[in-house]
Amino acid sequence: MKHFIDISDFTSIKLDKILIKAKHIKKNPEKFSNKCKNKTLGMILQKESTRTRVSFTVGFQKLGGNSLELNSSSIGFGKRESSEDILKTLSQYIDLLVIRNNDHKVIKKLSSLNALPIINGLSDYSHPCQILSDMLTINETIGNISNKQITWIGDYNNVLRSLIELQNLYGFKLNIVLPREILQKNKFKIKKLLNKKTTFTHLIREGIKYADCVMTDTWISMGEKTLKKKYFKNYQVNSMVMKLASKDAIFMHCLPAHRNEEVSSELLDSKRSVIWQQAKNRMFVQQAIALDLL
Ligand code: CP
Ligand code: NVA
Repeated sequence: MKHFIDISDFTSIKLDKILIKAKHIKKNPEKFSNKCKNKTLGMILQKESTRTRVSFTVGFQKLGGNSLELNSSSIGFGKRESSEDILKTLSQYIDLLVIRNNDHKVIKKLSSLNALPIINGLSDYSHPCQILSDMLTINETIGNISNKQITWIGDYNNVLRSLIELQNLYGFKLNIVLPREILQKNKFKIKKLLNKKTTFTHLIREGIKYADCVMTDTWISMGEKTLKKKYFKNYQVNSMVMKLASKDAIFMHCLPAHRNEEVSSELLDSKRSVIWQQAKNRMFVQQAIALDLL
C-alpha cells in the first residue's frame, strides 16, 4: 500500500511524475473531474489548519470524490478507542486519510499498518505536501529548482526538514540561516546534514547572497513553547533583507504568516512575494498525490 509520509521516501523521478500530474490538473481540471468518483477522503487534523483542510477538501471534491473531516475529539482518537482500531474501522468505509498531528511516530506507525493510504498533512517532524507544492511554485516562477539557490531564514522546523530532504533529491543550493542559539541547539543534527550544497550560518548577509528564492516560516511552530522567540528578533525577512539576494529573487512563506514578525507586511504584499500562488498550488499537488495513492 502506498502512503505519502516524507519526501525522503521517494525518488526524484517519482516526485517529478506527481508534479507533472499536478500541472495537468491545474491546466485541464475538467479532465480529472471524475477520477475519484465514489471515493472518500478522510481527514483527522489534530492541529489548526486552513490551507491543508480547505485544499484537500475542495481538491478532492473537484476530482469527483467526497471528503469527510473527523474531529479527533468526537471520535476519541486514541482515547475512546486505539488509533489503530480507528484506522482499521475507517478503512472499511473510506479510501484515503490525511493526518495532521504532533507526533510523527504516530503517523509512521499508522501507515505501517497498511490499512489505508495515509497522507502526512504536517507533523512535528515534517510537512511534505507543503514542500512538494513549493517546488511546483518555484519551477513555475523562477525555473528548474535544481539550478537555483534557496535561502531559508528562520527556525529549524518541520517545513525546513522537508526542504532539506528535497535538496537531497534535487541537489539545489540550500543556504540555511538560523539564529546562533538554534544552530547551537541542533549542532549534531546539522553536522550530519552538511553537504557540498547545503550550508548553515547565523549571518543573513552570508546566507542570502545569490539567493533566487528566500523562504521563511513562523518562528514558533504549532505546539511549541514561545521561549525561543527572543532569538529571532534580528531575523525578520523584509524588503531591505531581500536587497541582499539576487535581483529577481522571490519570497515564499508556507503561511500562516505573522505579519511584522518573521516577515514584514510590505514584503508579503510586494511583487517579490509568491505566497498566494504558493497556497493555491497546494491543491493541485495534493490532488496529484491523492490520485497517485489511489
Ligand atoms: N501551510 C499550511 O499547511 O497551512 P495550514 O496550517 O493553514 O494548513
Ligand atoms: N512550521 C509551521 C508550519 C505551519 C503550516 C507549524 O508547524 O506551525
